Amino acid sequence: MGKTILLLVAVVLVAYYVYVPLPGDIEEPWKLMLQTTRLKVMMDLVSFAELLGINHYMDTIQILMKFQELPATSDENVTVTDTAFNSVPVRIYVPKRKSESLRRGLFFIHGGGWCLGSNALLEYDLLARQIAERLDAVVLSTNYGLAPKYHFPRQFEDVYDALRWFLQEDILERYGVDPQRVGVSGDSAGGNLAAAVAQQIVQDPDVKTKLKVQALVYPALQALDMNLPSYQEGLYFPILSPLLMTRFWSEYFTTDRTLEKAMLLNQHVPMESSHLFQFVNWSSLLPERYKKGYFYKSPTPGSSELSKKYPGFLDVKACPLLANDNILSQLPRTYIITCQYDVLRDDGLMYAMRLQNAGVHVTHHHVENGFHGAFTLHGFKISYRLQNQYFSWLMENL
Ligand SMILES: *[C@@H]1O[C@H](CO)[C@@H](O)[C@H](O)[C@H]1NC(C)=O
Ligand SMILES: *[C@@H]1O[C@H](CO)[C@@H](O)[C@H](O)[C@H]1NC(C)=O
Repeated sequence: MGKTILLLVAVVLVAYYVYVPLPGDIEEPWKLMLQTTRLKVMMDLVSFAELLGINHYMDTIQILMKFQELPATSDENVTVTDTAFNSVPVRIYVPKRKSESLRRGLFFIHGGGWCLGSNALLEYDLLARQIAERLDAVVLSTNYGLAPKYHFPRQFEDVYDALRWFLQEDILERYGVDPQRVGVSGDSAGGNLAAAVAQQIVQDPDVKTKLKVQALVYPALQALDMNLPSYQEGLYFPILSPLLMTRFWSEYFTTDRTLEKAMLLNQHVPMESSHLFQFVNWSSLLPERYKKGYFYKSPTPGSSELSKKYPGFLDVKACPLLANDNILSQLPRTYIITCQYDVLRDDGLMYAMRLQNAGVHVTHHHVENGFHGAFTLHGFKISYRLQNQYFSWLMENL
């Protein structure tokens, strides 16, 4: 009897952890399933530790991720150094081969929900090396203060300070970067920060260097409506669930979980801010095919207590979709990757639409069998393909 129960429990556990209903057209499904199983086990252990009051969820994951960081190590093609720009830690990649002319410069911002990650993680280090080598570019990969230790606007400000430092004439000159060919890029929360600083730069009279491009990889762009079709569908998307995304968003602003609870009910935006819904209105901003089967319901206005305490979630520096058309129209040439099976899909789709409407040159690359994280999933075919397309776009446009 005891054995049977044990066996049953084992079968249920294995089924729960290994079986992830992946969409049918995803490549290398077994490999991805293995990856998501590992993630699921880790996340559940980490949640359990939080439940017991041992450690904050994000802090524990940060500790685990430390093991995947690499020191700054030059190779035969690229010189890699860690330094600080305006006291923000950055890693710089400079190609070793001789260059007759000034180089492209790319300012890169890693993802991780404003809580996790580092420029030293294996996948970001490899990516930055590849960009430096393939594009003959100087790559500046920045870090920034992470939640729960730091909240908005710290992440934004760190990135902005480092970018402004990089864009100074004498700094660009020191690294041999052409001031006419500097771009900004990032994935996920890094894409959010890239979009936010690109908007800030065009309004900053102190910054003389203009950005030539922004390349946004499945960026997070708004925290006002957590019930977009991609959030509703997202229960079965790999790697990033709507629940985790909501946790990341709320954690960006505060560790007080009442904000997260209100976000999950989609009742966090107060009545007096309801005019902002027009900027994230998927009913008017999504292409027809993504609206199919969903009915638009404007989020229910909540109390103004939360937004008084944590005004960040209504700030355009956190939610670049809230920018007006005048600001958008001044933005540089844009590359956006969105993935079909990604909670953040509709954020990217709406931004692409709004930028195009504002007259910005946009190359929108929608990946039909893509999912969140695909860009940096080391060793996966899809990652290789997405990165190659990203390199070619930069090669042509930066
Ligand atoms: C350096 O560049 C050469 C030529 O492009 C390439 O074959 C080699 O793999 C590169 N080395 C590293 C460490 O990436
Ligand atoms: C959203 O867009 C739809 C369709 O264009 C419109 O009917 C609705 O009033 C809009 N709602 C808000 C809150 O902007």
